[in-house]
Amino acid sequence: MCPNDPVHPLAAVTHPAPQDYYRRLAEGPPLRFDVQLDCWLATGAAGVQAVLAHADCHVRPPGMAVPENLLGTSCGAIFGELVRMNEGARHTVPKQVLASALGQVDLARLHQSTLQIASDHIPGNAVDLNDAMFELPLFAMADLLGFSTKQWPQLAAWTRDFVACLSPLSNSAQLAGAQLAAAALLQRFILLLRDPVPGSLLAEIKAAGWQSEAGLLANLVGLLSQTCEATAGLIGNAVLALRTHSGLQAQLRSDPSLWPAVLREVSRHDPSIHNTRRYTACKVEIGGVALPPRQMILVVLASAGHDASVHAEPGRFMLQRSVSPMLGYGHGRHACPGQQLAQTIAVAGAQAWADVLNGMPLAWRYQSSLNARIPVFMEGTAA
Ligand code: HEM
Repeated sequence: MCPNDPVHPLAAVTHPAPQDYYRRLAEGPPLRFDVQLDCWLATGAAGVQAVLAHADCHVRPPGMAVPENLLGTSCGAIFGELVRMNEGARHTVPKQVLASALGQVDLARLHQSTLQIASDHIPGNAVDLNDAMFELPLFAMADLLGFSTKQWPQLAAWTRDFVACLSPLSNSAQLAGAQLAAAALLQRFILLLRDPVPGSLLAEIKAAGWQSEAGLLANLVGLLSQTCEATAGLIGNAVLALRTHSGLQAQLRSDPSLWPAVLREVSRHDPSIHNTRRYTACKVEIGGVALPPRQMILVVLASAGHDASVHAEPGRFMLQRSVSPMLGYGHGRHACPGQQLAQTIAVAGAQAWADVLNGMPLAWRYQSSLNARIPVFMEGTAA
């Protein structure tokens, strides 16, 4: 361990420069018990893939489909239906519907429409930027779903309130706000589902068939909530990459076709989602390590991006890398179905705002979180 290292992987999420620490984690055993966090760690590409691919490593602890603090609430009802939080048939069938509908989105059109939305919402200062990087992906998703322009700001505000229920760091006021937001979002989707805009993502999803109305509604809210923080973080981390990697802006000005490669490299080098979790449903053996039932495994996704056995010189920000799976979007049956959309939206946002942000005095810290790395910008200059 080096003196400036984060004390453990949860602290690495908001550490100013965790990249070397992640590389060292990836050099260690793929699966190990962490005494300090009192849980197992899956690290490096091999550890992350092995755990996420394992049939008996589940997304929820056995017998606890919904966190205790959400039981009996609107947020809990949504949580319990999300594909992200289920296994077996309650996961596979809706996941296929979502993945197929999201897979049909025309990415070139999404890029154009998001460029337009971003150009209509150019941030004028650091405070604006903090809001804009959350709003842009939500506006783009609301547009795809078929909501009218005037509904976007309210939907974005409710989604930001709703995601508070997913964080163990939220206080009681935030949890209460999340319940109101959940009810409001459900109501908006009920109205739009009655008369979906032809050709919209919502129309596609509705036409694909769903087992239950509650499941459909919850997973529509899920599309907004899954988009929210992760894509905001990706845009924010791209803004930082443009500031901190010298020559990058000039390279992009002379060759704008490099934008997708820049966002891919940000997703590896400084991703927005660092951790996810799995729970052993029974006794499990992975790579010769035996884990008892009901064990929590912290899957350190960000360490896979810094695994030197997969990515040469992982600490270097380099555009010319051979394409390899982006484990920051997960792996296996729960892998993110929104990856292409998120990358496309982030490319458009970073591209539309690059020139104006270039001259803006910005300092930053990170929003407190155990999983998501999201910069909070302030006026000033970086230390
Ligand atoms: C930079 C942006 C994003 C990142 C880094 C990200 C990352 C992830 C990760 C790591 C997972 C897997 C979690 C696990 O296995 O425990 C996941 C799942 C998921 N993501 Fe994303 N995501 C992003 C954007 C999006 C967007 C824009 C959408 C919607 C269009 C979306 C929809 C989903 C859904 C529905 C799941 C659950 C899939 C399942 O459980 O089968 N994500 N995402």
